[in-house]
Amino acid sequence: SKGKSGADMPHQYFKAVLKPSDAEDCCICCEKLNSESDYGKSNHAEGEVVSLSLCAHMFHRQCLRAMYDSGPKDGSLQCPNCKKIHGFKHGICPAGEMHFWTIPESLPGYDGCCTICVKYFIRPGTQGHEHPNPGRKFSARGFPRIGYLPDNEKGRKILQLFTIAWQRRVMFTIGSSSTTGETDTVTWNEIHHKTEFGSNESGHGYPDPNYLDNVLLELAIQGVTEDDLTST
Ligand code: APR
Ligand code: ZN
Repeated sequence: SKGKSGADMPHQYFKAVLKPSDAEDCCICCEKLNSESDYGKSNHAEGEVVSLSLCAHMFHRQCLRAMYDSGPKDGSLQCPNCKKIHGFKHGICPAGEMHFWTIPESLPGYDGCCTICVKYFIRPGTQGHEHPNPGRKFSARGFPRIGYLPDNEKGRKILQLFTIAWQRRVMFTIGSSSTTGETDTVTWNEIHHKTEFGSNESGHGYPDPNYLDNVLLELAIQGVTEDDLTST
């Protein structure tokens, strides 16, 4: 399925902790687990404290709910402590287009290798319920935006992962641009792209021998990994 925006917090990814220790804090509100959540008391008979199934980090049930409700509500849960994703994380990137093609020219540092161009196009619009200010307009500056990858095995793998990130709406987000300071605008969502082709004056160009590995880590933080390539 595509996004499940608006779904209630899933319950299959955590279990109740009936006797939380005095010593541990909730990683969301930083208060003791055995005291009440800032977000109030839970209505659930099954306990106030829960533990995530993959990483065992513990939270007040109501803190976890508040965190979930402030996100895209896509039926997934990401541990705010260790970032482990339970289910598939979706983002809030507005609709748009992604295209790619190759050109017979080399990026600095990748002599003899062709180049993959990845183009994104997003138009301005009105924010939906999943966005920071529903009903308010958002701008979209600098589109189309184009990123470059070497057309080698690793670059082609990253292209596939970029496609998954785009489909899950995690490639861009809506918020304030740290470059321009503009609010309610479409911004890159911490999956770095090399937007400069033949040089590196902006810091977003080649050569950068660590780029491909770094962007694989950034994709993983958004829940997009090699595991997604074998399972689709
Ligand atoms: N190219 C690629 N990534 C960039 C660029 C750029 N020119 N400028 C910033 N980023 C990265 C930042 O390093 C950060 O991780 O995007 C992330 C979000 O930064 P913001 O400034 O909030 O993002 P945004 O407003 O989308 O970026 C501004 O990126 O592609 C260009 O045309 C775009 O000039 C604009 C710039
Ligand atoms: Zn965790």
